[in-house]
Amino acid sequence: MTRPGAARNSVRPSRRLVVVGSGIAGLYAALLAADAEGSSAAEVVLLSKGQLEHSNTFYAQGGVSAVLEPGEAAPGDSVEAHIADTLAAGAGLNNADAVRILCTEAVQDIAGLRRFGVIFDADAQGGTALGLEAAHSAPRILHAGGDATGARIARGLIAAVLERAVCGRLRLETGAFVTGLTTAEGSVSGVEYLQNGELTSLPAEGVLLATGGAGQVFARTSNPAVATADGLAIAWRAGAAVADLEFFQFHPTTMAMQETAGGPPPLLVSEAVRGEGAVLLDADGHRFMPDYHHDAELAPRDVVSRSIALHLARTGAPADSPVFLDARGIEAARGSGFLARRFPTINAATRAAGYDWTAEPLPVSPAAHYWMGGVSTDLHGRTSVPGLYAAGEVACTGAQGANRLASNSLLEGLVFGRRAVEAFLADPESRDTTAPRASSAAGGLSFTHASAALSRDLDRGECASSAVAEEVAESVPGLEPFSRDALRRLMTAHAGVLRSGEQLQEAAATLAAWAAVIRPESFVGVTDPREFEDRNLLLAARLLVAAARQRTVSVGAHYRADADHAPAPTHSMQRISS
Ligand code: FAD
Ligand code: SIN
Repeated sequence: MTRPGAARNSVRPSRRLVVVGSGIAGLYAALLAADAEGSSAAEVVLLSKGQLEHSNTFYAQGGVSAVLEPGEAAPGDSVEAHIADTLAAGAGLNNADAVRILCTEAVQDIAGLRRFGVIFDADAQGGTALGLEAAHSAPRILHAGGDATGARIARGLIAAVLERAVCGRLRLETGAFVTGLTTAEGSVSGVEYLQNGELTSLPAEGVLLATGGAGQVFARTSNPAVATADGLAIAWRAGAAVADLEFFQFHPTTMAMQETAGGPPPLLVSEAVRGEGAVLLDADGHRFMPDYHHDAELAPRDVVSRSIALHLARTGAPADSPVFLDARGIEAARGSGFLARRFPTINAATRAAGYDWTAEPLPVSPAAHYWMGGVSTDLHGRTSVPGLYAAGEVACTGAQGANRLASNSLLEGLVFGRRAVEAFLADPESRDTTAPRASSAAGGLSFTHASAALSRDLDRGECASSAVAEEVAESVPGLEPFSRDALRRLMTAHAGVLRSGEQLQEAAATLAAWAAVIRPESFVGVTDPREFEDRNLLLAARLLVAAARQRTVSVGAHYRADADHAPAPTHSMQRISS
């Protein structure tokens, strides 16, 4: 590590690392790589498809979970407790080694963020303020600007990146949409990207995908427009193994407001609000969560979203009806002005939407939020394709299991982004095919192109001959023409919070028919990134549905309405285990 921003005075590095994406994982990894010195130093190129701020990271509210050093951590809290909470939320399908690394190394990367200029909120005594979120057994959520944590982190890291770009320590390209990887002898040899309507190739010894998630696969999502599964699709096409794709997390409390096509995502009302004591009511004013889980509103996120869906079904309300988040008790208990001070972003946005949450409950609904599955990696960010690394939401280390614990995602981007850079810098030859390869993450299903089960479903689409493809398209009567909007509606209706085998089968047939029309060869000469995004969303949807069809039992965020379940609750206490 050198003085931040100092120009590198050694000879030009012989190896190049391309980092794709400017969320927390990509920014942090690019900074660490750019600051590396000595024989392992690499030339670093950071590519991002929009502005640097365009990311899920920028929207993060609640914060980053970490058990700080004794004295700074909450009394009685421990790394072991953070590990136990992460495993419990993930329904035990986590990769235990990844969880241990995530929780143990958190403190190191919080220090790393602070080194790059990120300042976390302080408590009244001047120590680090620690919030509580659902399914955490102790307050351990670091936040910045109240509920503006993601924006504060992103701005801090972007400032550090720009400083290094100015003095030539890294090269930065925005508006650079990565369309695919180039390979040589089975290893990654670089990327191809579209910029200003032109397709460019950039050779590299290593490529780190930090392209984030895929919320845009669903009609209702907390994710901004950039979350289109590009990295997953790019890696899949290069032959990388993927895992845990049936596990997509829905956040229970996004504002139920009129949405405009192509407009901003619905406002997320942070879990930290429930951590402060807000409760969920149905349209009759009944507080229903205690009927579904002993931890009520502080149950794991998958449980709360599912309980909302089941409660609406049981009370005969339409599936898209809102429930109500009541934060009035917080203001009453903590004093007037508390909500505005602690949650300035939510306070401003709800007021702009015409709600006074100190005086009335907010209408909220679940929305697609976070993909636990992704490109399968080992504990050092290596994928199954030599030279290709992945970190952050696009990756699947198995740390999150079947359902992510709140505020563990920013943390994963930090810890495994750093580890991926360390692996690239340490790998004597990153195209070394003997390097340890990605293991199947945890208990989720792991697929490769060679996987018989998946190729049976998938190859009759993107990889099929056009004759077979046409046959597939004709096999779905009344097929709606493909559009992003139609895809998102289909996924929400057939593969959302609750799903059944029949719904998934219908979704698979429609998706296969669309894939037969959206042919790979028709992309030659295409210069509109949105068309590539559509193709990536379609592939991601097909992979998700294929994975969901294979898991016929309910676990974590994957709930099969047609699987055997405990009897429905009758307003007495009943647990839905996560
Ligand atoms: P992102 O931050 O999504 O960044 C991905 C980057 O890749 C973007 O810059 C994008 O433009 C770029 N990119 C994508 N495709 C391409 C391409 N083809 N070519 C070039 N560039 C590309 N998690 C927490 O831990 N705590 C929270 O409090 C929290 N709150 C959240 C609130 C909201 C509203 C949302 C949406 C998410 C929240 N999450 C939270 C989840 C968390 O923000 C994300 O999982 C995390 O930020 C992902 O970081 P990332 O670096 O992997 O990806
Ligand atoms: C939130 O603030 O509720 C989001 C936290 C997360 O996604 O981890």
